[in-house]
Amino acid sequence: MKILLTGASGQLGQEWQRLTNDRDDIILWPYTSSQLDITNKKQVESELHGRQPDIVVNCAAFTDVDGAETKKELAHQVNSEAVANLAELSSELGFKLVHYSTDYVFPGERADREKCPDGYPEDYPADPINWYGQTKWEGEEAIRQTATDYLILRLSWVCGRFGGNFVKTMRQLGREREELQVVNDQWGSPTFAENVVQNTVALLQADKKGTYNITSRGLISWYDLAEAIFELSNIDVELEAVTSDAFPTEAERPHFSKLNTRKLESISDSQIIDWRDGLESLLKQL
Ligand SMILES: NC(=O)c1ccc[n+]([C@@H]2O[C@H](COP(=O)([O-])OP(=O)(O)OC[C@H]3O[C@@H](n4cnc5c(N)ncnc54)[C@H](OP(=O)(O)O)[C@@H]3O)[C@@H](O)[C@H]2O)c1
Repeated sequence: MKILLTGASGQLGQEWQRLTNDRDDIILWPYTSSQLDITNKKQVESELHGRQPDIVVNCAAFTDVDGAETKKELAHQVNSEAVANLAELSSELGFKLVHYSTDYVFPGERADREKCPDGYPEDYPADPINWYGQTKWEGEEAIRQTATDYLILRLSWVCGRFGGNFVKTMRQLGREREELQVVNDQWGSPTFAENVVQNTVALLQADKKGTYNITSRGLISWYDLAEAIFELSNIDVELEAVTSDAFPTEAERPHFSKLNTRKLESISDSQIIDWRDGLESLLKQL
Protein backbone atom coordinates (compact mmCIF):
# COMPACT_ATOMS: atom_id res chain seq x y z
CA MET A 1 0.00 0.00 0.00
CA LYS A 2 1.37 3.40 -0.98
CA ILE A 3 -0.07 5.93 1.46
CA LEU A 4 0.18 9.71 1.41
CA LEU A 5 -0.42 11.10 4.91
CA THR A 6 -1.43 14.70 5.68
CA GLY A 7 -1.20 16.40 9.08
CA ALA A 8 1.96 14.40 9.87
CA SER A 9 2.92 16.35 12.99
CA GLY A 10 -0.40 15.87 14.80
CA GLN A 11 -1.29 13.19 17.37
CA LEU A 12 -2.51 10.70 14.78
CA GLY A 13 -0.06 11.71 12.08
CA GLN A 14 2.92 10.93 14.30
CA GLU A 15 1.41 7.65 15.50
CA TRP A 16 0.88 6.59 11.88
CA GLN A 17 4.58 7.16 11.20
CA ARG A 18 5.70 5.27 14.31
CA LEU A 19 3.50 2.24 13.66
CA THR A 20 4.27 1.89 9.96
CA ASN A 21 8.00 2.57 10.25
CA ASP A 22 9.05 -1.08 10.14
CA ARG A 23 6.29 -2.44 7.90
CA ASP A 24 7.36 -3.70 4.48
CA ASP A 25 3.80 -3.76 3.15
CA ILE A 26 3.20 -0.02 3.73
CA ILE A 27 5.06 2.81 2.04
CA LEU A 28 4.17 6.01 3.87
CA TRP A 29 4.75 9.52 2.54
CA PRO A 30 4.09 11.85 5.50
CA TYR A 31 3.48 15.58 4.95
CA THR A 32 3.39 18.14 7.73
CA SER A 33 1.25 21.27 7.33
CA SER A 34 4.25 23.27 6.12
CA GLN A 35 5.11 20.62 3.53
CA LEU A 36 1.52 20.31 2.31
CA ASP A 37 -1.24 22.75 3.21
CA ILE A 38 -4.45 20.91 2.39
CA THR A 39 -6.25 24.19 1.69
CA ASN A 40 -3.81 24.90 -1.15
CA LYS A 41 -5.67 23.24 -4.02
CA LYS A 42 -2.87 23.56 -6.56
CA GLN A 43 -0.24 22.16 -4.23
CA VAL A 44 -2.45 19.23 -3.21
CA GLU A 45 -3.30 18.43 -6.81
CA SER A 46 0.31 18.56 -7.96
CA GLU A 47 1.56 16.40 -5.06
CA LEU A 48 -1.13 13.78 -5.64
CA HIS A 49 -0.54 13.71 -9.39
CA GLY A 50 3.17 13.28 -8.72
CA ARG A 51 3.00 10.62 -6.02
CA GLN A 52 0.04 8.59 -7.34
CA PRO A 53 -0.75 7.02 -3.92
CA ASP A 54 -3.18 4.11 -3.49
CA ILE A 55 -4.51 5.74 -0.33
CA VAL A 56 -4.59 9.25 1.17
CA VAL A 57 -4.91 9.32 4.96
CA ASN A 58 -6.10 12.75 6.01
CA CYS A 59 -4.95 13.48 9.56
CA ALA A 60 -4.94 17.22 8.88
CA ALA A 61 -7.67 19.21 10.57
CA PHE A 62 -8.47 22.43 12.37
CA THR A 63 -8.87 20.84 15.82
CA ASP A 64 -9.05 23.89 18.11
CA VAL A 65 -12.71 23.47 19.06
CA ASP A 66 -13.00 26.83 20.85
CA GLY A 67 -10.82 28.65 18.30
CA ALA A 68 -13.16 27.48 15.53
CA GLU A 69 -15.91 29.70 16.98
CA THR A 70 -13.90 32.82 16.14
CA LYS A 71 -11.80 31.53 13.21
CA LYS A 72 -14.88 30.27 11.43
CA GLU A 73 -13.64 30.76 7.88
CA LEU A 74 -10.31 29.01 8.47
CA ALA A 75 -11.95 26.08 10.28
CA HIS A 76 -14.34 25.73 7.35
CA GLN A 77 -11.56 25.89 4.78
CA VAL A 78 -9.55 23.12 6.48
CA ASN A 79 -12.33 20.83 7.73
CA SER A 80 -14.86 21.21 4.91
CA GLU A 81 -13.54 22.80 1.69
CA ALA A 82 -10.11 21.13 1.65
CA VAL A 83 -11.77 17.78 2.40
CA ALA A 84 -14.23 18.29 -0.46
CA ASN A 85 -11.23 18.89 -2.73
CA LEU A 86 -9.56 15.66 -1.53
CA ALA A 87 -12.83 13.82 -2.22
CA GLU A 88 -12.94 15.15 -5.78
CA LEU A 89 -9.32 14.20 -6.40
CA SER A 90 -9.99 10.76 -4.94
CA SER A 91 -12.58 10.06 -7.64
CA GLU A 92 -10.49 11.66 -10.36
CA LEU A 93 -7.20 9.92 -9.54
CA GLY A 94 -8.63 6.69 -8.11
CA PHE A 95 -7.12 6.67 -4.61
CA LYS A 96 -8.97 5.63 -1.48
CA LEU A 97 -9.60 8.51 0.92
CA VAL A 98 -9.29 7.77 4.62
CA HIS A 99 -10.62 10.67 6.65
CA TYR A 100 -10.91 11.13 10.41
CA SER A 101 -13.98 12.76 11.89
CA THR A 102 -15.49 13.28 15.28
CA ASP A 103 -18.12 12.50 17.89
CA TYR A 104 -18.94 16.23 17.70
CA VAL A 105 -21.09 15.65 14.61
CA PHE A 106 -23.76 14.30 16.98
CA PRO A 107 -26.16 16.39 19.11
CA GLY A 108 -24.67 15.23 22.43
CA GLU A 109 -27.85 15.69 24.45
CA ARG A 110 -28.03 14.41 28.01
CA ALA A 111 -31.07 12.28 27.14
CA ASP A 112 -29.13 10.50 24.38
CA ARG A 113 -27.26 8.59 27.09
CA GLU A 114 -30.47 6.70 27.84
CA LYS A 115 -31.50 6.55 24.19
CA CYS A 116 -28.16 5.11 23.03
CA PRO A 117 -26.57 3.43 26.07
CA ASP A 118 -23.95 1.77 23.85
CA GLY A 119 -23.20 5.01 22.04
CA TYR A 120 -24.27 6.70 18.84
CA PRO A 121 -24.33 4.25 15.93
CA GLU A 122 -22.79 5.42 12.65
CA ASP A 123 -26.19 6.18 11.09
CA TYR A 124 -27.59 8.23 13.99
CA PRO A 125 -28.73 11.65 12.64
CA ALA A 126 -25.98 14.25 12.88
CA ASP A 127 -26.76 17.61 14.49
CA PRO A 128 -23.56 19.37 15.56
CA ILE A 129 -23.78 21.86 18.42
CA ASN A 130 -20.63 23.84 17.66
CA TRP A 131 -18.84 25.20 14.58
CA TYR A 132 -16.01 22.66 14.70
CA GLY A 133 -18.59 19.84 14.62
CA GLN A 134 -20.47 21.57 11.80
CA THR A 135 -17.33 21.93 9.66
CA LYS A 136 -16.35 18.29 10.27
CA TRP A 137 -19.87 17.17 9.33
CA GLU A 138 -19.75 19.16 6.08
CA GLY A 139 -16.38 17.53 5.30
CA GLU A 140 -17.91 14.09 5.85
CA GLU A 141 -20.88 14.87 3.63
CA ALA A 142 -18.65 16.13 0.81
CA ILE A 143 -16.81 12.80 0.86
CA ARG A 144 -20.04 10.77 0.80
CA GLN A 145 -21.34 12.79 -2.14
CA THR A 146 -18.15 12.77 -4.24
CA ALA A 147 -15.72 9.99 -3.36
CA THR A 148 -16.36 6.45 -4.52
CA ASP A 149 -13.83 4.71 -2.30
CA TYR A 150 -13.50 6.14 1.18
CA LEU A 151 -13.39 5.47 4.91
CA ILE A 152 -14.76 8.08 7.30
CA LEU A 153 -13.57 7.14 10.78
CA ARG A 154 -15.15 8.94 13.72
CA LEU A 155 -13.17 9.28 16.94
CA SER A 156 -13.72 10.84 20.36
CA TRP A 157 -11.39 12.13 23.11
CA VAL A 158 -8.20 11.21 21.22
CA CYS A 159 -5.09 10.61 23.32
CA GLY A 160 -1.74 9.15 22.51
CA ARG A 161 1.96 9.52 23.22
CA PHE A 162 2.41 12.38 20.72
CA GLY A 163 1.01 15.90 20.86
CA GLY A 164 -1.20 17.45 23.50
CA ASN A 165 -4.19 15.70 25.05
CA PHE A 166 -6.24 15.33 28.24
CA VAL A 167 -4.09 12.54 29.71
CA LYS A 168 -0.90 14.56 29.38
CA THR A 169 -2.53 17.75 30.66
CA MET A 170 -3.97 16.00 33.73
CA ARG A 171 -0.65 14.38 34.59
CA GLN A 172 1.07 17.73 34.43
CA LEU A 173 -1.61 19.61 36.40
CA GLY A 174 -1.85 16.81 38.95
CA ARG A 175 1.85 17.15 39.69
CA GLU A 176 1.73 20.95 39.90
CA ARG A 177 -1.43 21.42 41.96
CA GLU A 178 -2.95 20.12 45.16
CA GLU A 179 -6.57 20.33 44.01
CA LEU A 180 -8.23 19.96 40.64
CA GLN A 181 -11.77 20.34 39.35
CA VAL A 182 -12.92 18.12 36.49
CA VAL A 183 -16.33 17.94 34.84
CA ASN A 184 -18.50 14.92 35.49
CA ASP A 185 -21.44 15.75 33.24
CA GLN A 186 -19.82 15.04 29.88
CA TRP A 187 -19.87 11.36 28.98
CA GLY A 188 -18.00 9.39 26.36
CA SER A 189 -14.86 7.29 26.03
CA PRO A 190 -11.23 7.95 25.15
CA THR A 191 -9.85 6.82 21.80
CA PHE A 192 -6.20 5.83 21.84
CA ALA A 193 -4.13 7.00 18.87
CA GLU A 194 -2.27 3.67 18.60
CA ASN A 195 -5.61 1.81 18.50
CA VAL A 196 -6.92 4.18 15.81
CA VAL A 197 -4.02 3.38 13.48
CA GLN A 198 -4.28 -0.39 14.17
CA ASN A 199 -8.00 -0.38 13.41
CA THR A 200 -7.57 1.81 10.33
CA VAL A 201 -5.04 -0.68 8.94
CA ALA A 202 -7.44 -3.56 9.74
CA LEU A 203 -10.23 -1.78 7.82
CA LEU A 204 -7.90 -1.12 4.90
CA GLN A 205 -6.73 -4.72 4.81
CA ALA A 206 -10.35 -5.91 4.84
CA ASP A 207 -10.97 -3.46 1.97
CA LYS A 208 -13.88 -1.86 3.82
CA LYS A 209 -15.63 1.32 2.71
CA GLY A 210 -18.01 3.73 4.41
CA THR A 211 -18.31 5.24 7.89
CA TYR A 212 -17.05 3.59 11.07
CA ASN A 213 -16.73 4.65 14.69
CA ILE A 214 -13.49 3.88 16.52
CA THR A 215 -13.18 4.24 20.29
CA SER A 216 -12.52 2.21 23.42
CA ARG A 217 -15.05 0.09 25.33
CA GLY A 218 -16.89 1.69 28.26
CA LEU A 219 -18.76 4.87 29.15
CA ILE A 220 -17.14 7.36 31.50
CA SER A 221 -17.00 11.05 32.34
CA TRP A 222 -13.88 13.25 32.13
CA TYR A 223 -13.86 13.07 35.94
CA ASP A 224 -13.66 9.25 35.83
CA LEU A 225 -10.83 9.46 33.33
CA ALA A 226 -8.91 11.97 35.47
CA GLU A 227 -9.40 9.81 38.56
CA ALA A 228 -7.97 6.77 36.77
CA ILE A 229 -5.02 8.77 35.40
CA PHE A 230 -4.06 9.88 38.93
CA GLU A 231 -4.59 6.45 40.44
CA LEU A 232 -2.53 4.66 37.80
CA SER A 233 0.20 7.33 37.86
CA ASN A 234 0.36 7.43 41.68
CA ILE A 235 -0.35 11.15 41.70
CA ASP A 236 -1.85 12.44 44.91
CA VAL A 237 -4.25 15.27 44.12
CA GLU A 238 -7.60 16.29 45.53
CA LEU A 239 -10.12 15.84 42.75
CA GLU A 240 -13.45 17.65 42.73
CA ALA A 241 -16.30 16.73 40.40
CA VAL A 242 -17.97 19.80 38.87
CA THR A 243 -20.55 20.47 36.17
CA SER A 244 -19.73 22.03 32.80
CA ASP A 245 -20.96 25.45 34.04
CA ALA A 246 -17.77 25.68 36.11
CA PHE A 247 -15.74 25.89 32.89
CA PRO A 248 -17.47 28.18 30.38
CA THR A 249 -16.02 27.65 26.90
CA GLU A 250 -16.38 29.46 23.56
CA ALA A 251 -17.80 26.34 21.98
CA GLU A 252 -20.60 24.36 23.53
CA ARG A 253 -19.57 20.81 24.54
CA PRO A 254 -21.75 17.70 24.18
CA HIS A 255 -22.99 16.03 27.38
CA PHE A 256 -22.93 12.66 25.69
CA SER A 257 -20.61 11.66 22.86
CA LYS A 258 -20.05 7.94 23.19
CA LEU A 259 -19.53 6.24 19.82
CA ASN A 260 -20.97 2.78 19.26
CA THR A 261 -18.31 0.37 17.95
CA ARG A 262 -20.47 -2.64 17.00
CA LYS A 263 -19.85 -2.12 13.28
CA LEU A 264 -16.08 -2.09 13.79
CA GLU A 265 -16.25 -5.20 15.99
CA SER A 266 -17.53 -7.20 13.01
CA ILE A 267 -14.29 -6.58 11.07
CA SER A 268 -11.68 -9.30 11.34
CA ASP A 269 -8.47 -8.07 13.00
CA SER A 270 -10.21 -5.05 14.55
CA GLN A 271 -9.30 -4.43 18.17
CA ILE A 272 -11.68 -2.79 20.62
CA ILE A 273 -9.93 -2.28 23.93
CA ASP A 274 -11.32 -1.47 27.33
CA TRP A 275 -10.73 2.23 28.09
CA ARG A 276 -8.79 1.39 31.26
CA ASP A 277 -6.48 -1.05 29.46
CA GLY A 278 -5.83 1.57 26.79
CA LEU A 279 -5.06 4.15 29.46
CA GLU A 280 -2.71 1.81 31.34
CA SER A 281 -0.83 1.04 28.19
CA LEU A 282 -0.57 4.73 27.23
CA LEU A 283 0.67 5.73 30.69
CA LYS A 284 3.46 3.14 30.40
CA GLN A 285 4.54 4.77 27.13
CA LEU A 286 4.64 8.33 28.51
N1 LIG B 1 -8.09 15.25 19.23
C1 LIG B 1 -9.30 14.76 19.47
O1 LIG B 1 -9.73 14.63 20.62
C2 LIG B 1 -10.16 14.33 18.33
C3 LIG B 1 -11.44 13.84 18.63
C4 LIG B 1 -12.24 13.42 17.60
C5 LIG B 1 -11.77 13.47 16.30
N2 LIG B 1 -10.54 13.97 16.03
C6 LIG B 1 -10.12 14.05 14.62
O2 LIG B 1 -8.96 13.24 14.44
C7 LIG B 1 -8.12 13.81 13.44
C8 LIG B 1 -6.70 13.95 13.93
O3 LIG B 1 -6.71 14.69 15.13
P1 LIG B 1 -5.40 14.91 16.01
O4 LIG B 1 -5.81 14.78 17.43
O5 LIG B 1 -4.26 14.11 15.48
O6 LIG B 1 -5.19 16.47 15.69
P2 LIG B 1 -3.91 17.39 15.89
O7 LIG B 1 -2.95 16.75 16.81
O8 LIG B 1 -4.43 18.74 16.18
O9 LIG B 1 -3.28 17.37 14.43
C9 LIG B 1 -3.88 18.01 13.35
C10 LIG B 1 -2.79 18.32 12.36
O10 LIG B 1 -3.38 18.97 11.23
C11 LIG B 1 -2.47 19.91 10.76
N3 LIG B 1 -3.11 20.94 9.97
C12 LIG B 1 -3.92 21.95 10.36
N4 LIG B 1 -4.28 22.69 9.31
C13 LIG B 1 -3.68 22.13 8.21
C14 LIG B 1 -3.66 22.46 6.84
N5 LIG B 1 -4.32 23.51 6.35
N6 LIG B 1 -2.94 21.67 6.02
C15 LIG B 1 -2.27 20.61 6.49
N7 LIG B 1 -2.22 20.26 7.78
C16 LIG B 1 -2.95 21.02 8.63
C17 LIG B 1 -1.84 20.50 12.01
O11 LIG B 1 -0.63 21.08 11.65
P3 LIG B 1 0.29 21.92 12.70
O12 LIG B 1 1.04 20.86 13.45
O13 LIG B 1 1.15 22.75 11.84
O14 LIG B 1 -0.69 22.69 13.53
C18 LIG B 1 -1.71 19.26 12.89
O15 LIG B 1 -0.45 18.65 12.74
C19 LIG B 1 -8.79 15.12 13.03
O16 LIG B 1 -9.56 14.91 11.89
C20 LIG B 1 -9.71 15.44 14.19
O17 LIG B 1 -10.82 16.21 13.78
C21 LIG B 1 -9.73 14.37 17.01
